[in-house]
Amino acid sequence: MPEPAEAPEPSGAPGPSPRDHAEGPELSRRLDDRYATPPPWEIGRPQQAFLALARRGAIGGTVLDVGCGTGEHALMCAGLGLDVTGVDLADRALDAARDKARRRGLTARFVHHDARRLTALGERFDTVLDSGLFHMLAPLDRPAFADDLRAVLRPGGRYFMLGFSDRQPGTPGATVPYRLTRDDLTTTFGGRLRIDSLEPATIEITLNTVGIKGWLLAATKASAPPA
Ligand SMILES: C[S@@+](CC[C@H](N)C(=O)[O-])C[C@H]1O[C@@H](n2cnc3c(N)ncnc32)[C@H](O)[C@@H]1O
Repeated sequence: MPEPAEAPEPSGAPGPSPRDHAEGPELSRRLDDRYATPPPWEIGRPQQAFLALARRGAIGGTVLDVGCGTGEHALMCAGLGLDVTGVDLADRALDAARDKARRRGLTARFVHHDARRLTALGERFDTVLDSGLFHMLAPLDRPAFADDLRAVLRPGGRYFMLGFSDRQPGTPGATVPYRLTRDDLTTTFGGRLRIDSLEPATIEITLNTVGIKGWLLAATKASAPPA
């Protein structure tokens, strides 16, 4: 994917949010508040990075969309005839996702669920999509998230993550969304999944046409964890 021209820090871009220190109902409420007006990541269609994966046939089987928001990526999968579940903690977003599904005549399941507790879903998946969730997780939550991710993926299952990069102007590591370094990603996922590719990518937003500098990670669950 082409690199965008250097973009100024987009004011009001997907964060910072007060996510860091809240938990339980308070976290849900704060995430929900981000949908009181359309948030900048709500572009009304899937991210180009994920559309390209779908066109390549990389997304298949039963799909989990973590931090699904208003469901564009889950609904893209539903449109491909895939069995898909989206999880989020923002009820406004989940309601909007269900409404989009109805209006588009698509079948997808949208569940209020904490993406840091994936094993509590009690299901396994062939593909996990993550557009903008991982970069919201506190660094301390990352290892448990990756453990759960590995647990819910079937052998050979794949994880695709689009998240903020440290190439995006701002203070790396300081706020949500975290500007992820290559090392953040290889450290978190490398021991648990096989990293197939980790490439610069663009996160599209409504605030400008160049988007945000991100990473697109593609990883696979091998039968045994990588050495
Ligand atoms: C940047 S938005 C991206 C939404 C959607 N994936 C998209 O691409 O439009 C991140 C989403 O993650 C959700 N989120 C953040 N922390 C979460 C958690 N612990 N569990 C579930 N969802 C979470 C937020 O409510 C928000 O909808």
